[in-house]
Amino acid sequence: MSQHPDSNDNLTSTPTTDEQTLTNVDTASADVDDNQSTPAADKHIRIVNTFMKRRTHMNKNAELALTAPEFADYLVNNSFGDGDLTGIHDLRALFADSPNGSDAPLTLEIGFGLGDSFIEMAAAEPARNFVGIEVHEPGIGKCAYMAGTQGLRNVKIINGDAIQLLKQLPENHIDRIQLYFPDPWQKKRHYKRRFVSPERMAIVTRSLTQGGWFHTATDWEHYAFWMLEVLDNFAGLTNQAGAGNFIDRPDFRPMTKFERRGIARGHGVWDLIYSKD
Ligand SMILES: C[S@@+](CC[C@H](N)C(=O)[O-])C[C@H]1O[C@@H](n2cnc3c(N)ncnc32)[C@H](O)[C@@H]1O
Repeated sequence: MSQHPDSNDNLTSTPTTDEQTLTNVDTASADVDDNQSTPAADKHIRIVNTFMKRRTHMNKNAELALTAPEFADYLVNNSFGDGDLTGIHDLRALFADSPNGSDAPLTLEIGFGLGDSFIEMAAAEPARNFVGIEVHEPGIGKCAYMAGTQGLRNVKIINGDAIQLLKQLPENHIDRIQLYFPDPWQKKRHYKRRFVSPERMAIVTRSLTQGGWFHTATDWEHYAFWMLEVLDNFAGLTNQAGAGNFIDRPDFRPMTKFERRGIARGHGVWDLIYSKD
């Protein structure tokens, strides 16, 4: 999983794409510029990603899942490399040949980390299809390994940037989008990387079905109130707990690895659920 760059938790990890992160185009502002930009102007646009990829140890099971044919059905695209999302325009179609079919309720989890809670949710609700997207290869491998060893038929895993993926999907496509314990980007100069921002929420909301949910949670207090302000003021979304309020963790959301770590450090936990009007 990408270690949060503001933390010193994983001193053995090696940043691999800092340069890319610093020179890429801000996916949010690129939206605005896309139609008017010229090749010359593009050179000066900077992408700001919501993640920073870091090289961390891949265990044997994760490596097996990324290479052995029996896990291939879980992996939508090449799980090594930069997460090429070319050709992924329809998440429902990924389940056309599975027991649930393409019309079943659909959840997209963004940034599942090592995948434990994502797989637990998918196993608990076999009639719902679950797509997870992550940029961290060891996490993708571990998640595919768990799905395969449990024989889940309602899971697909994508390697890549969720913002880019969402832009490629149809409108009104996904019933639930969940974002659990996104990188908090604690330093002020990094706030622009926070996933929950008005620009990125426009991209998320567009692909939600009417009445569909966006569910997020964080253990970082500043980000919790930031999320509340962004989301409460976002036209087209309604806070399920009433404006200004957080919601109790619903029973269907298992505790995640990052959540446990936050709680062990004395952090609180704040959940938010919004429906699309
Ligand atoms: C702090 S971790 C939390 C992981 C997990 N949800 C948990 O609670 O244990 C955030 C994860 O989101 C992933 N991530 C951040 N931005 C992403 C994006 N735009 N697309 C896909 N994954 C992303 C990171 O790679 C990282 O693994």
